Amino acid sequence: MEPQAARERLAAADHDDLFAHWDARPAGARRQLEASLRLLDDDAFALIARLQAVTQEGEDAAGTGGSGGTLTAAPVLMPVDAELGRLREQGEEVLRGGVCGCLTVAGGQGTRLGIGGPKGVFPVSPVRNASLFQVFAEKLRAAERRYGTTVPWFVMTSPLNHAETEAFFQDNEFFGLREGAVTFFPQGMHPVFDQQGRLMMAADGGLTQAPDGHGGVLRALRIAAADQLASAGVRYLFYGQVDNPLLTFPDPVFVAAHQAAGSQLSTKVVARKSAEEKMGVPCLRDGAPEIVEYSDIDSEMAAARDGQGNLLLAFGSIAAHVMDVPALFDWESRLPLHVARKEAEVLVPTAAGATVERSTVIKYEHFVFDAIQRARSPLFVACERAEEFAPLKNETGDDSIATCRQGQSDKYRGWCEQAGIPVARVDADGQPVLVEVSPLFADSVAELKTRLQNTVTRIDETSLFA
Ligand code: UD1
Repeated sequence: MEPQAARERLAAADHDDLFAHWDARPAGARRQLEASLRLLDDDAFALIARLQAVTQEGEDAAGTGGSGGTLTAAPVLMPVDAELGRLREQGEEVLRGGVCGCLTVAGGQGTRLGIGGPKGVFPVSPVRNASLFQVFAEKLRAAERRYGTTVPWFVMTSPLNHAETEAFFQDNEFFGLREGAVTFFPQGMHPVFDQQGRLMMAADGGLTQAPDGHGGVLRALRIAAADQLASAGVRYLFYGQVDNPLLTFPDPVFVAAHQAAGSQLSTKVVARKSAEEKMGVPCLRDGAPEIVEYSDIDSEMAAARDGQGNLLLAFGSIAAHVMDVPALFDWESRLPLHVARKEAEVLVPTAAGATVERSTVIKYEHFVFDAIQRARSPLFVACERAEEFAPLKNETGDDSIATCRQGQSDKYRGWCEQAGIPVARVDADGQPVLVEVSPLFADSVAELKTRLQNTVTRIDETSLFA
């Protein structure tokens, strides 16, 4: 839209503060704001109006749910060994049918990790330091080989890391995937407000925006890939976060359990380590399933235990889902908003030009798991933490680079041991022995056993099987 027309519309909606002391403002800051205005269209104005109203009316207007009613633990499917074989066979059949795709949300900025760019480029594997993106690409290549079909991969970026993500894949020749097998698409951005519902300007003078949360994936996917999903006949999407290299991706058992339950949206969960662990919790609120985010759950409820000392809310979400493709586009417009208050640098116009100040800003995000409240027969399926969950969130401490690398090595040590190959704890120099198995070498214990048979009888030093 022409800047002048956008300016008039914003002024009419009580955003004339944006243009205060216009002539005094540095030319660069004016240009940035005009550039932001050019990007506004009718949808953007509608979004601004909605978020402005929510800010002014208070958080209840955001419709996050997240409070009231009685919370109890949601039922969790725990497939017993006897069922696993059957589920695996059924799921492998589904995968061979070519009706599954994979989706990775990678729009986050890795702020807690202390890196600026896309988290997926982080060198994460324990021996060869392969990046998160490489580990996932190899899982997909292994699946394509195993099931004899292509598994289209959809990678959600954000406008802040899109170009860098694509360049990383190009520089690495798509880690052996066909270039056309990967679709990158950026999530949307939401305008950012002050406590009074005024639009904020960033330090450079443009409108401040922030990614719309991973729930933005539903809209972004519809815009970028709805036709492609339909023409490729994709019925099920495996959804995973870029931060968990242990995830089985795609997972035949998971899709078979999803199908058998007639679920439209299924979620993997693991036993929570502690009441404080930062995980969303599968709950029933007055009997209706949802995931309550760790930041929203009442701390007493999160810590409540039964007579044997077990957490009443025993499971946490690892944020891995199977979604029914036709259904997921129905949920998009019905996701609530979650409110986050953050400190940010903002431009404040003054008679002498403008200053940059730190201020509290309000951001709004959608969470994809809120779609559970909209989906038919949502299912929670338990999986083994040691096999499937070692997320990379922080530089140090819990869920850190060290725990993530150790988690991967422990998994593959376990695989070797199950394959009948003992692994030393430390090498001849007393250094810890780490083990890494590339998904391309083996994607299961059975395959590892076949590959190592007659060649490796024990492991005494850090080893890579790739
Ligand atoms: C997340 C889940 C939590 C779950 C835990 C498991 C949320 C809000 N919470 O916590 O319930 O138990 O993982 O590890 O998701 N992302 C985007 N765009 C965004 C925001 C995030 O793509 O706008 C992606 C990130 O790249 C990352 C994932 O979503 O892959 C998780 O986001 P993050 O905000 O780090 O959530 P957690 O606090 O780790």
